Amino acid sequence: MNPANPPNRGPLLLTLIFPLLLSVLAAAFLYQDASFAPAPLPMDAIAGPPVAAPVVLGEMRNSSEFVHLEGCLGPEDVAYDHGEKVIYTGCEDGWIRKVRVEDLVPEKWVNTGGRPLGLVFGLHGEVIVADTLLGLLSVTKDGQVEVLTDEAEGVKFKLTDAADVAADGTIYFTDATHKYSLRDSTLDLLEGRPNGRFLSYDPVTKETKVLVRDIYFANGVVVSPDQEFVVYCETVMNRCKKYYIKGEKEGTVENFIDHLPGMPDNIRYDGEGHYWIAIPVGRSAAWDLALGSPFLRRILGFLEKHSLRPKIESDSGVFVVDLKGNPVAHYYDPSFSMISSGTKIGNQVYCGSPTNPYIVCMNLTGILPGGSSSV
Ligand SMILES: *[C@@H]1O[C@H](CO)[C@@H](O)[C@H](O)[C@H]1NC(C)=O
Ligand SMILES: *[C@@H]1O[C@H](CO)[C@@H](O)[C@H](O)[C@H]1NC(C)=O
Repeated sequence: MNPANPPNRGPLLLTLIFPLLLSVLAAAFLYQDASFAPAPLPMDAIAGPPVAAPVVLGEMRNSSEFVHLEGCLGPEDVAYDHGEKVIYTGCEDGWIRKVRVEDLVPEKWVNTGGRPLGLVFGLHGEVIVADTLLGLLSVTKDGQVEVLTDEAEGVKFKLTDAADVAADGTIYFTDATHKYSLRDSTLDLLEGRPNGRFLSYDPVTKETKVLVRDIYFANGVVVSPDQEFVVYCETVMNRCKKYYIKGEKEGTVENFIDHLPGMPDNIRYDGEGHYWIAIPVGRSAAWDLALGSPFLRRILGFLEKHSLRPKIESDSGVFVVDLKGNPVAHYYDPSFSMISSGTKIGNQVYCGSPTNPYIVCMNLTGILPGGSSSV
């Protein structure tokens, strides 16, 4: 080396020390929150191509109207009262709104004081509400709110999500996660730990039972029309399972449908042989990659907490299956995200969302094979 020309330490600093320092800093940032600890997911159950439906409509927007309900942000679920011809939906401000299907004018009905998500009618005209802040509620016709249950086995619910009522009066419902609130629910998805539970509430004995634990975000619930089983959706795993409530298999769990083309949210039965599974986030290469990598999910979680996470939600819509869980149709749109429910009323499907300021209303005339048009 020529002593007149001392080695330039600049490049060394830039190529070695600077990135090293940055990595240490980044790691310190990423790992500063010990409570957020992404875990490996059972990828053999998640990976692989999604199931295909015989009917696919990838331009759902073209057949849809956006129904804005004045003052309502995040109409997550839609319950329909056939007698009154009125929709009930819960909004972010705590109000359950009633909307006449005829003119879609919303009217404030009851404020739960929490954040109502899943809604379903009880056997005696009451509305059963999965309220993410308060637990499982019953709201009488004249608007009296009662908390039925808000914990099980000593663990408080943190994100009561969906409910359905069996013919014998038993209420089946989910607590998506006992760790994160609705506001932080993306962190639960990213953490990839089974914090969810599927439960039942007996209105006679007032007993709350945990039926299935360790669920990767326990979401939509529906009782099969023959009262044989209850389907619950497991969001992170892209699947829905069935829990038998009758017969030889009572108390056992089987697959209902897996490898869905995205993460399932609410599931609704339409009374005509089909279940409608809402898909808030469609499958994507980015999301698949993240599911497979706890480290990537840690980075995404860090970005999420600082409101910097890139949007990977797209191709949202509804997936239709028959009574046995066989695919029937898939309606979605690349521009849609966070559709959380699909309730079929006549030849329209009303799609709620926890974040959109509207209900997406899809007109099935001409696109649903064998669709009926009775309301
Ligand atoms: C849907 O709408 C887009 C934009 O308006 C249009 O380009 C496309 O051809 C439409 N698709 C169908 C199937 O009508
Ligand atoms: C649904 O579409 C059909 C065919 O385009 C139309 O006749 C009908 O009025 C539409 N229904 C509603 C509620 O928009």
